[in-house]
Amino acid sequence: MSTRIAPSLLSANPLTFGVEIKTLEECGADFLHIDVMDGHFTGTIGCFSPNVVKHIHSITSVPLCVHLMVQEPYRFIDMFAHCGVQYMAIHPESTQHILKDLQNIRFFGMKPGIALNPGTPLWVLEPLWDDVDFVLLMGVNPGSSGQSMIPSTFQRLQHLKTFGRDKEIWVDGGVKLTNHKTCIDNGADVLVIGSDLFNAPSIKEHMELLKQ
Ligand code: DX5
Ligand code: ZN
Repeated sequence: MSTRIAPSLLSANPLTFGVEIKTLEECGADFLHIDVMDGHFTGTIGCFSPNVVKHIHSITSVPLCVHLMVQEPYRFIDMFAHCGVQYMAIHPESTQHILKDLQNIRFFGMKPGIALNPGTPLWVLEPLWDDVDFVLLMGVNPGSSGQSMIPSTFQRLQHLKTFGRDKEIWVDGGVKLTNHKTCIDNGADVLVIGSDLFNAPSIKEHMELLKQ
């Protein structure tokens, strides 16, 4: 299977979301990655409310993946489930009941994923493996786009392979045209990409190069 790309809308222009989403759809985006930030789990505030996500869903058939970077994510699971979201990733660092929250994501009809900060040991996955459909491995400390990927991400991708190959591995943060092949070679199935794609002179050409 060719590389799958999940453009991160955090780097898109919020004044022209509709146009940008249509462009991404035409260019073969496999997912749309939507970062939700509450100003607590990360020091930054995001712009994606359930209402905005509902409107995004109304104009595209590309599957939506919400990445909840919020404290106590259980408060938001059902809200986004009703907005057409198909994939939802949450952080074990943000909740006291990660297994229960993952089970709730599935209960509400979405695919549960676990997002892991660069400083979080991979062994937290062991008791959760059967309850996740994908792992969202952070290549940067979460909260903003445009950061450089932390080099240990590549070893962490390799280490993830030892857990088994039955789950999709997504890498999020710091993915660029200059390192995307290394991510794939080390085991990434899906590349989440924000600033490198949206700052490119041509999104279409950039998408083609990423998929080669
Ligand atoms: C980072 C977010 C990412 C971000 C990636 O906290 O989770 O999804 O949008 O942006 P880039 O690709 O610019 O690092
Ligand atoms: Zn993200």
